[in-house]
Amino acid sequence: MRDLTSDTITEAVISTMRETKDPRVAEILESLVRHLHAFVRDVGLTEDEWARGVDFLTRTGQTCSPTRQEFILLSDVLGVTMLVDNLTNRRSGEATENSVLGPYFREDRPRQAASADISGGLPGTPLFFEGQVVDHEGAPVADAAVDVWHSDSDGHYDMEVPGLDEPAMRALFRTDDAGNFGFRSIRPSSYPIPGDGPVGELMSATGRSLMRPAHVHLLIEAPGFQRVTTMLFPSDDPYLDTDPVFGVRESLVERYDTYAAGTGPRGGATEAPYTLLRRTFVLEPHVTD
Ligand SMILES: [Fe+2]
Repeated sequence: MRDLTSDTITEAVISTMRETKDPRVAEILESLVRHLHAFVRDVGLTEDEWARGVDFLTRTGQTCSPTRQEFILLSDVLGVTMLVDNLTNRRSGEATENSVLGPYFREDRPRQAASADISGGLPGTPLFFEGQVVDHEGAPVADAAVDVWHSDSDGHYDMEVPGLDEPAMRALFRTDDAGNFGFRSIRPSSYPIPGDGPVGELMSATGRSLMRPAHVHLLIEAPGFQRVTTMLFPSDDPYLDTDPVFGVRESLVERYDTYAAGTGPRGGATEAPYTLLRRTFVLEPHVTD
């Protein structure tokens, strides 16, 4: 392997990987090399541009920390996260569709009983959520694990709220025998993805908005069914069509209905107008070979 040219280097690189034991790893690496080389040829990448790319990726890695994942954010804004989800989780019929998990899920969330107030005492428009989990034939799924998390009225998750030491606006519920779960919290707000790192530079250079539409995250698991990682967006949000992570699906846009102050669902009294969000989640059985 000497005197390689732009015409022969791609096959030469691939030939060095012929001994790869795992056939799937071999397939992925060969395709990666072919596409990467094709990309370099396509744009006629210069040395300066190559150096800028290396610097960008280096800083993307250096921006990562135990509480921040800039590479996942880069994948999100390039549409790769949703593309992988689309290819991996093909839902049929009425089955609830996925969206991105995002960076704000926490393992150390409290378990809560039905109708619990998970607002952590934070100010905001009261939000009542009434959900039901059913299977593809409409039968209730009892004892499903339902994780919920969302931002506050300023678009901050609990770990970003100054002075808040305990988890809030997040909880793990179990559905009852009728597949129901519910809680009280505050209405979430739209918020920007982190813009102070390399991904922010990319967004700025391309004139894209950092603002995600408001949403409530849900992660639903039950034995025998595919896991659902999803979120629900208010239908009146101004950022639905410019979501920087491409997570909005029409089936996940919901009316966040507002009611006058008074007695809310399940007898929960409010002194201010409140929002009621109702949703049925349809699980799809595991695919068996
Ligand atoms: Fe989020």
